[in-house]
Amino acid sequence: MSEHQHPFFSHATLERNVGLLITVTIIVVAIAGLVQIVPLFYQHSTTEPSLGVVPYSALRLAGRDIYQREGCVGCHSQQIRTLRSEVERYGPYSLAGESVYDHPFLWGSKRTGPDLSRVGARYSDAWHQVHLNNPRSVVPESNMPAYPWLEKNKADQDTIANHMTALRRVGVPYTDEEIANASKELEGKTEADALIAYLQGLGTNRRYLNIDEMPTN
Ligand code: HEC
Repeated sequence: MSEHQHPFFSHATLERNVGLLITVTIIVVAIAGLVQIVPLFYQHSTTEPSLGVVPYSALRLAGRDIYQREGCVGCHSQQIRTLRSEVERYGPYSLAGESVYDHPFLWGSKRTGPDLSRVGARYSDAWHQVHLNNPRSVVPESNMPAYPWLEKNKADQDTIANHMTALRRVGVPYTDEEIANASKELEGKTEADALIAYLQGLGTNRRYLNIDEMPTN
C-alpha cells in the first residue's frame, strides 16, 4: 500500500471509475440533503404559525386560487430576503412561520413586478380594482397585464368548501362551521373582490414600523 492510499478505501479507484464515482456522489449528497431537510419538518420556527398568522378566510382563499390561476406568481415574489435593501423597500423579511398555511407556497423567484408579501393595506381596495382592470391607468409605465374579466366573473361558490376540507387534511385548522359557511361568504362576490381581499391580507400580520420591533419567532 502506497502512503497516499486510504487504509480501507482507495480514492484512486473512485476517481478512475465514473460509475462508482456517480453512485457514491449520489449517496453522499442524498445523506447530506436529508440531514439538512428533515429537521425543518420538526422545528417550531418552520411548522408553527408566526405571531398573528391565521388560516385564510373563504374569500381570501378563493382570491389565492385566482392569484395562482392568473399566474401572478410568475412576476411577483412573496419572499422578502434578509438584506437591508429588501427590508427597507418591502418591510420586515419573511419568516417560514408565515407560510405554514400556504399550500402550495407562492414564494416565487421572479420579480418583474415588486414583491407582494407585505402589500396588504398599502393601497385602497379601489386602487387595486382600477389597477387590476388596467394597470396603466394608475401606473403609466406598468407592463403588468390587465385582468378586466376578474370584476365580471363571480367567485366560485361551489368548490370552496371542498377546498377547505382538503386543506384541513394537510393541517390547516379550519372548523366545521367555517367550512359550512364558506360558500355563503362568497355570495355576491366577484373574482376581483376575492383577489383584492387576498392581496389586502398579505403581510398584515407583521407590519412593524421599525425593523427592531420584529419578533424573531
Ligand atoms: C408580466 C408580469 C406581471 C404579471 C403577470 C402580474 N404583474 Fe403585478 N406588477 C407587475 C409590474 C411590472 C408592477 C409594477 C407596476 C405597477 O404597479 O403596475 C406590478 C405591480 C403590482 C402591484 C402593486 C405592487 C406595489 O407594491 O406597488 C400589485 C398589487 C400587483 N402587481 C398584483 C398582481 C396580481 C394580483 C397579478 C395577477 C392577477 C399580477 N400582479 C400579475 C408585473 C406583473
